[in-house]
Amino acid sequence: MTLKNTSYQYGRIAKWMHWSTAALFLLAYCTVYFRQWFTEPNTSVNMTALHLHLSIGISLGVLVVLRVIWRIYSVSPSQEPGTRLEHLAAHLGHYALYAMMIVMPITGYLGTGLSTDFFFMFDIPRFADTELFKVVVVSWMDMSFEEFEKPIDYLHKDLLGAWIVWMLIAGHIAAALYHHFIKKDRTLQKMTR
Ligand code: HEM
Ligand code: HEM
Repeated sequence: MTLKNTSYQYGRIAKWMHWSTAALFLLAYCTVYFRQWFTEPNTSVNMTALHLHLSIGISLGVLVVLRVIWRIYSVSPSQEPGTRLEHLAAHLGHYALYAMMIVMPITGYLGTGLSTDFFFMFDIPRFADTELFKVVVVSWMDMSFEEFEKPIDYLHKDLLGAWIVWMLIAGHIAAALYHHFIKKDRTLQKMTR
């Protein structure tokens, strides 16, 4: 297996980034729903789960920058035979997943009410405590944090987090399984072997 992609196969770096991203998404969901469903507000386990969610989300934000750069400068493995519609759907699905990987960490960071205790090692200040917030949100947009966070929280938690993201991921996994077990082509193997 090579480090870089070839027209036949994803390379080691693309695979590593793909599966790390997938694991971080899963962990971001597990931590936030564990917090909401299984812990009492403001207990230490409740806050630990929240800080893990924030830390995982920020790590994903950093990883996706590297992933997009790598994607731009890499060749893409050629697609398995399929109709034009199938290829279009695959492309749109992948772009939509890239969009979610960018929008979720950004909306999470902009809308959070507390600074992140990054994996319990050091603090990352919340956006509302930065100079950029004062200049852009307070001075230019003339908004308080509460007014600013409302639409952003709606995007992060209600629209994308609770619905669109996991539906896209479920569709993506279903497509991978369909290729592997029904069409019996190399789509999944390009990302695993
Ligand atoms: C890809 C990364 C992320 C994903 C997939 C994600 C997903 C979610 C989901 C599904 C929820 C709960 C929605 C609900 O209430 O039903 C949530 C809540 C939240 N997220 Fe994220 N998030 C990510 C990144 C971040 C980041 C980077 C931050 C901040 C630094 C953040 C801050 C928050 C906060 C403060 C909440 C509310 C927690 C609560 O009320 O229990 N998220 N996120
Ligand atoms: C069990 C979970 C997953 C499986 C089985 C899976 C499988 C695959 C496979 C087989 C491909 C190659 C498709 C092709 O080249 O036609 C792929 C690509 C991709 N996956 Fe996943 N995936 C999973 C989770 C995720 C998650 C959670 C995300 C992001 C939220 C994601 C984002 C992507 C993206 C953006 C691509 C396109 C890569 C590129 O060509 O630039 N995947 N995935």
